Amino acid sequence: MNQKTQSTPRPNLYLIGFMGTGKSVVGQLAAKMLGLSFLDSDLEIEKKYKTSVSEIFKIHGEIGFREMERNFILSGHPKSGCLVSCGGGLPIGEGMIEMLKSNGKVFTLWASPKTIFERTKKNSSRPLLQTEDPFSKITELLSEREVKYRKADKIISTDVRSVSEVAALIQKNYLEELN
Ligand code: S3P
Repeated sequence: MNQKTQSTPRPNLYLIGFMGTGKSVVGQLAAKMLGLSFLDSDLEIEKKYKTSVSEIFKIHGEIGFREMERNFILSGHPKSGCLVSCGGGLPIGEGMIEMLKSNGKVFTLWASPKTIFERTKKNSSRPLLQTEDPFSKITELLSEREVKYRKADKIISTDVRSVSEVAALIQKNYLEELN
């Protein structure tokens, strides 16, 4: 590798997609494989505000949380060299997906409502899924958001793939996007 290649900043990679599609787990592995630093938007917001996403929803509401996500994308993370696992609703607000695409590459991790339900049902840390009927909520929210998730540079299905298979696909597609 020559000096120029070594110092060329690599574009950020934003992983978006519904809750339970594996963005955080897969993202950490893919970041390691690609030599990118790893950030998780929820964790960064929790660190900055010193409280959990659930508490933020209780105190500031969903609107307040979306504002924190927007600020994180605008000014809370490096502009290159990092893979960002984005909270499921982060790319949904007006202009957000366009902002992510202007900052770097954007890949969606996809899964069916059934898979999402199975992966999220034992976890109570997601305020939007704390309802009587989380499966219906997942189906409804996913169909509302699908149009945004489909605007990504790549869509990768995670239904029948292991974490390492999805990470390998991310690596391959990211490197192809650079060429
Ligand atoms: C949300 C997804 C969550 C978190 C918050 C809201 C959403 O992140 O940001 O609970 O609106 O889809 P994950 O997608 O990492 O679960």
